[in-house]
Amino acid sequence: MSPAIRHFLSVADWSAEELLAMLDRARELKRLHARGRRPRTLEGLTLALYFEKPSLRTHVTFEAGMTQLGGHAILLHRGQVGVGTRESAADVARNLSRWIDGLVARTFSHALVEELASHATIPVINGLTDLLHPCQAMADLLTISERKPLREAEIAYVGDGNNVANSLLLAAAVLGLRLRLGTPASHRPAVRIRERAAELAARSGARITFTDDPVEAVRGADFVYTDAWTSMGQEHEAGERRRIFEPYRVDAALLAHAPDALVMHCLPAHRGEEITDEVLDGERSIVFDQAENRLHAQKAILERVMSV
Ligand code: CP
Ligand code: NVA
Repeated sequence: MSPAIRHFLSVADWSAEELLAMLDRARELKRLHARGRRPRTLEGLTLALYFEKPSLRTHVTFEAGMTQLGGHAILLHRGQVGVGTRESAADVARNLSRWIDGLVARTFSHALVEELASHATIPVINGLTDLLHPCQAMADLLTISERKPLREAEIAYVGDGNNVANSLLLAAAVLGLRLRLGTPASHRPAVRIRERAAELAARSGARITFTDDPVEAVRGADFVYTDAWTSMGQEHEAGERRRIFEPYRVDAALLAHAPDALVMHCLPAHRGEEITDEVLDGERSIVFDQAENRLHAQKAILERVMSV
């Protein structure tokens, strides 16, 4: 692998300064976009998007982002490419590296994205794995920063300690933020993610706490974030998960403990499960700002890793 290549597999692979620089660029790209200006910084470059799971936001924002930056995107489906079945991950990565300039991969296994990256000589961006969703975290940071300076924000996450929560946790740890995670003890972020976050937090001064009490998590928060109780690939556990997460629903009663909080969700929402219609569609919801910011945050990521 060329030493110049930087993959975007986890926010924890990047320094606070680097993440903040990408967020600054995302803000600038968003301002330019609002004025109808679309700098063609990736003119002539091609990005492939490989999806093992469904997607609306990640697919559309990466594809539109490449178009807006003057490049091109190709959508690859699992059945068509068969990474690990029709052809090894290593060979797929080697082939793509000979033709194009970047790869976004959404896979079940995080190890598969790491394997693709280890054999690619083009940057690989994690478009969500069972473990992490770093592009979502960048859009979330951008969205929070539009409302409050990041280091002043009291962020609460309630629900499943899964990929979205893991990346939010790592982002808070890198950047020195304040985050309270309210999850059942059985569904806290993975041990290896908590350990990595603790190492990073010791350096950044991040204040991160874990509780199984959703009220304690959200009390006095500026932002209350939740994600689906049943993630893609866990559908067979849906009934059990509804039972486990029932006390963690973001509804008006829970939000009464955070009267000034804005509400966040990565989407897609399972309305009536982790979040009620009333909250998702209410005045305090900034979920569509988050969705909008996927475009701008990812354009900044694309420029950072693909610019020649
Ligand atoms: N939030 C998110 O990643 O949405 P999609 O699954 O639609 O890409
Ligand atoms: N945790 C969810 C996020 C979807 C964007 C999932 O993995 O399905």
